[in-house]
Amino acid sequence: MNLPEVPVLHGARCVLRPLTLEDAPSLQRNADDDAVWRNLFEGFPRPYTLADAQGWCSVGCRSATMGYVWGIAVENQIVGCIAVRPDSGWLRCNAEVGYWIGQDFWRRGITSEALGLVTAWAWANLPEVTRLYAPIFSWNQGSQAVARKCGYFLEADLRHSAIKDGRVIDRVQWASLRPEALLP
Ligand SMILES: CC(C)(COP(=O)(O)OP(=O)(O)OC[C@H]1O[C@@H](n2cnc3c(N)ncnc32)[C@H](O)[C@@H]1OP(=O)(O)O)[C@@H](O)C(=O)NCCC(=O)NCCS
Repeated sequence: MNLPEVPVLHGARCVLRPLTLEDAPSLQRNADDDAVWRNLFEGFPRPYTLADAQGWCSVGCRSATMGYVWGIAVENQIVGCIAVRPDSGWLRCNAEVGYWIGQDFWRRGITSEALGLVTAWAWANLPEVTRLYAPIFSWNQGSQAVARKCGYFLEADLRHSAIKDGRVIDRVQWASLRPEALLP
């Protein structure tokens, strides 16, 4: 498959760039936090060890299974990650977005800037994708605010739709549609 490059994306608050092995210590410090873990998919490591971070930094920034992954850098330290992963087959016009950032950097407008950059990148570089979607745990007001701020809309109430830490939980789903002017 011919996958587009993962470029460096520059914002006013952060830079999005591919991860390298040198980013592992900073990634680990920010990821090893229950306040981050509790809002992410069940497989997110807890504790998040240096070996976990080194593994994640080594897998590469683009692949058919993982999609496109950027580290979120502030002053050249990786403080979080953001990714967009296209679905496959007849659902390949959809892509899932996901993001997290370390607690020390919350509420500075960093993640909403990152999601805005990645959303614009997806419309420009993934021509088959017409819909981006973000499944979010229902209690996660911060993540929903990020999606709203980037023009995503609440499209679904996914009650009892996931298991986190042994409990069945509710999620909501936010989405953004390719602007009409950019339709294939
Ligand atoms: C949720 C998360 C991504 C927010 O990132 P952030 O960088 O703090 O968000 P921003 O600073 O860009 O904030 C964007 C908006 O969300 C609001 N917001 C952020 N955190 C909030 C919270 N906990 N409750 C309510 N609103 C919140 C901000 O006030 C801002 O709105 P405003 O511009 O109208 O004031 C971050 O807290 C995080 O990574 N949490 C742990 C992992 C996670 O939840 N990932 C998302 C999984 S779906």
